Amino acid sequence: MQSIRKVTEDILWVGCNDRRITLFENLFPVPKGVSYNSYLILDEKVTLMDTVDASATEQFFENLEAGLAGRSIDYLVVHHMEPDHAANIKLLLEKYPEIQVVASAKALQMIGQFFDLDLSGRSMEVKEGDTLSTGSHTFHFVAAPMVHWPEVLVSYDEKEKILFSADAFGTFGALNGTIFNDEVDFEREYLADARRYYANIVGKYGMQVQGLLKKAAGLDIQMICPLHGPIWRTDLGWFIDKYDKWSRYEPEEKAVVVLYGSIYGHTEQAVNALACALAEKGARNIAVYDVSRTHLSDLIGEIFRASHLVIACPTYNGGIYPPMENLLTDMKALSVQKRTVALMENGTWAAASGKQILKRLEEMKEMLVLEEQLSLKSALKPERAGDLERFAGQIMETL
Ligand code: FEO
Repeated sequence: MQSIRKVTEDILWVGCNDRRITLFENLFPVPKGVSYNSYLILDEKVTLMDTVDASATEQFFENLEAGLAGRSIDYLVVHHMEPDHAANIKLLLEKYPEIQVVASAKALQMIGQFFDLDLSGRSMEVKEGDTLSTGSHTFHFVAAPMVHWPEVLVSYDEKEKILFSADAFGTFGALNGTIFNDEVDFEREYLADARRYYANIVGKYGMQVQGLLKKAAGLDIQMICPLHGPIWRTDLGWFIDKYDKWSRYEPEEKAVVVLYGSIYGHTEQAVNALACALAEKGARNIAVYDVSRTHLSDLIGEIFRASHLVIACPTYNGGIYPPMENLLTDMKALSVQKRTVALMENGTWAAASGKQILKRLEEMKEMLVLEEQLSLKSALKPERAGDLERFAGQIMETL
């Protein structure tokens, strides 16, 4: 049975949901699943915008057949070659051999890398500035390299003023029949996952996302059709603003995110005391995470949200506690910048993690590390209440 929806009079959503997937990219937990969006445009010529992941092949072809209602497909536009969207290209071309594949030069090259497929006479190479006319629709192609792979194109439909945005403006989380942003409570149901998706998958490429936003600003966009998650047809500015902040590495909220490692619970006790001290002083947006128990992708999402980070870490083998080391490596890889950081270290023999974390933070851009650091020997004792107060106080002063 098909599960398709109308986007406009002649555009159909023929995408699929995957709620069986455990790890997206075999890396990121997706407890709410993920959608692979694909769009069918029934104009004089029929165009399909991208395919779906291999896990959804059967549903995809059922949707497609229902949407086509006996018609065939003239063009397949490949915006992005990552297999969560491109896995079904070969099968699609076998079923509909008359299709012309419309893609960037790099994407066409990647098709050859992934598939044993002869595209001679069946492909149309396009680049920024090129257009594809299908009758009443004209699609303008815009290059979006590294959002999130080098071959990416997005396309703008002149008729409906729709931006087919590839991975940009996408989110984790399956679609529950409700495919439009105004049919869901996006902030409650999707925002944390959208941020996590952005930060972990596209986070490194803030500069390139800024480039795409600048190009998009020159277009009259009434709707955004991404490859994952809800379609945006209202409040576009609200979500574009989130993307703008994330890609400039500006904090989204004034918030304190406490990231701690704790081997036997002593560092954890210290951060609980700190959280109480911060709340006593009036802080409200506080979140505390055990780095050993929280998935790295959730931590990265929270780091993109918050203005202030507290890093509290035991010394382990004379160095940084491994889960924290891992987090710092990922922060650097994803280009985390512009955060205010307070450092707390712990050590029973010799506390040495603070200095090493400081070095790692210095490798990131515009990280303001607060002067007062708290160095613990095994446990925070009541006689150090003054130190804790000062430590919390400096966070409040900058919040
Ligand atoms: Fe949804 Fe980069 O693929």
